[in-house]
Amino acid sequence: MTTAEATVDETEPGGSDEPAPDARLMGHSYDGIREYDNPLPSWWSAIFVGSIIFAGFYVLYFHVVGWGSNPKERYQAALASYESKREERDRADAMNVSEETLEHNARDGAILARGAAIFTERCASCHGPKGAGLIGPNLTDDRQIHGSTRMDLFRVVRGGAPGTAMVAWGEQLPPADVIAATTFVTTLRGKKLPGKAPEGLPVGAFEP
Ligand code: HEC
Repeated sequence: MTTAEATVDETEPGGSDEPAPDARLMGHSYDGIREYDNPLPSWWSAIFVGSIIFAGFYVLYFHVVGWGSNPKERYQAALASYESKREERDRADAMNVSEETLEHNARDGAILARGAAIFTERCASCHGPKGAGLIGPNLTDDRQIHGSTRMDLFRVVRGGAPGTAMVAWGEQLPPADVIAATTFVTTLRGKKLPGKAPEGLPVGAFEP
């Protein structure tokens, strides 16, 4: 017996000991096993072909043309929009600065600590490490050149004193930092540390 005979028996249907031919049977027979021609259901083929076409568009959209954004990109976009809104919030906070908020801040240890750090870094070169004055006026005496209130101090720190070495810090520092530095300065007034001679009009220390 040859291999071909063992594996493929190509006898046609309708032989003497074969059952009556069935129109659905296909022409071949393997080891006597026959098969119907059962096409895949059209809904199945449609999904199969559809998913291949979809995959093509998917690759084009996300990987070739790059129109679609992946989760990482969406996360970064969300983060960026949060950051930009935070700047807006900071700016809004700066607009809402009032005598009351500055007074309230002066009791907030975190804001004071931040303000003190900014003072050391940005202001001490002119106002002295303790605020007792060098090029800039003594901020610890009980006199003030510009106005008398906390808001007057805030306006000088934010907008500067034109024509002097005191620049507009509102253009260099984020609003929250300008507020923190001003808050720190308000706690200096009235400490009367020895330093630069008093300038400006007499004002008292702020109520704690
Ligand atoms: C380059 C030097 C310089 C630096 C740095 C500087 N200042 Fe001044 N500052 C001055 C001078 C000069 C004046 C006085 C302006 C005037 O005569 O009108 C002044 C005035 C002020 C006043 C008003 C004082 C008053 O009596 O009205 C405040 C408040 C003040 N500075 C806070 C700050 C803070 C806070 C910083 C840091 C963020 C800072 N300054 C950094 C030079 C400086």
